Amino acid sequence: MFNTVRVMAICAMAFASLSATSALADEPILIKFSHVVADATPKGQGALLFKQLVEERLAGKVKVEVYPNSSLFGDANELEALRNNDVQLLAPSLAKFEQYTKQLQVFDLPFLFDDLDAVNRFQKRAKGRQLLRSMEDHNIVGLAYWHNGMKQLSATRALNMPGDANGLSFRIQPSAVLEAQFGQVGANSQKLPFSEVFKALQSGQVQGAENPWSNIYSQKLHEVQPFISETNHGVLDYMLVSNSRFWYGIPHQIRMELEAIIDEVTYVVNKQAEAANQADRQRIVDSGRSQVINLTAEQRQAWRDAMRPVWEQFQGQIGSDVIKAAQTVNRKHRE
Ligand code: SIN
Repeated sequence: MFNTVRVMAICAMAFASLSATSALADEPILIKFSHVVADATPKGQGALLFKQLVEERLAGKVKVEVYPNSSLFGDANELEALRNNDVQLLAPSLAKFEQYTKQLQVFDLPFLFDDLDAVNRFQKRAKGRQLLRSMEDHNIVGLAYWHNGMKQLSATRALNMPGDANGLSFRIQPSAVLEAQFGQVGANSQKLPFSEVFKALQSGQVQGAENPWSNIYSQKLHEVQPFISETNHGVLDYMLVSNSRFWYGIPHQIRMELEAIIDEVTYVVNKQAEAANQADRQRIVDSGRSQVINLTAEQRQAWRDAMRPVWEQFQGQIGSDVIKAAQTVNRKHRE
């Protein structure tokens, strides 16, 4: 639960830092929004829509600068930069918060969510909402969940059954769950920043990766990965986050307007993400550069059975209450 004492403390600190800058009170509040993907992706579009709506509704009061493609900060330093208030908005993938909370690792568990609708339901329920507040001790406040999409497995060889991944090395985000997931199918993994994925695949440093269609297409990963298996084995979503002290230091009325804009942008991003991913899937098929492999129900079940032990492995860290709450959102509730 949102702890009242903690909120008051954050507000007091925020007020102090606001007073310190009151000499600049007539200056618009500057919000730098940094991210690591291309503009033509669900997150990239969300950042641009946020900027547009703020410019329309809060002109002269708030100014937004958007920095896509790791052009300001990348995976290695963006969260530290946020905590230092060198950047005020980020939307890292949920796999990138492990250092600040283990609970968000629930989103990395393979085959936990049947589809993006199930993810959506979990994020809207009490347990999902609570996780937005799970990093406040680290001066990070979660403002919203933004969808990208379900992940697919790409590689230099066709991956039909789990054994096909044996011995390959996959690029992963910095998540122990993802490392364990690939370990379950006899594969190795390397944690690399998103900005390095194309080069690592092109040079053969790694032979495979996992990403939603929009990231595969916008980074041209299909041009260096001849096979993509449509596994939908996990989700890659984002948490829109700010520096707590900065956020609660924004004058109340302006913050309310910003939060209303965020709600509106979140609705648009989450409504359009699935269609954007399907459009990029089709572009990949049409390019003829990579073969998209449709798994049979039996093949998909084999991947599920192979990776499923990861749930038990991380249950202690994530919390069985969180995992149970996530399981109930699938239409067909399975243990
Ligand atoms: C992102 O979509 O922000 C990047 C995800 C990744 O690192 O694979």
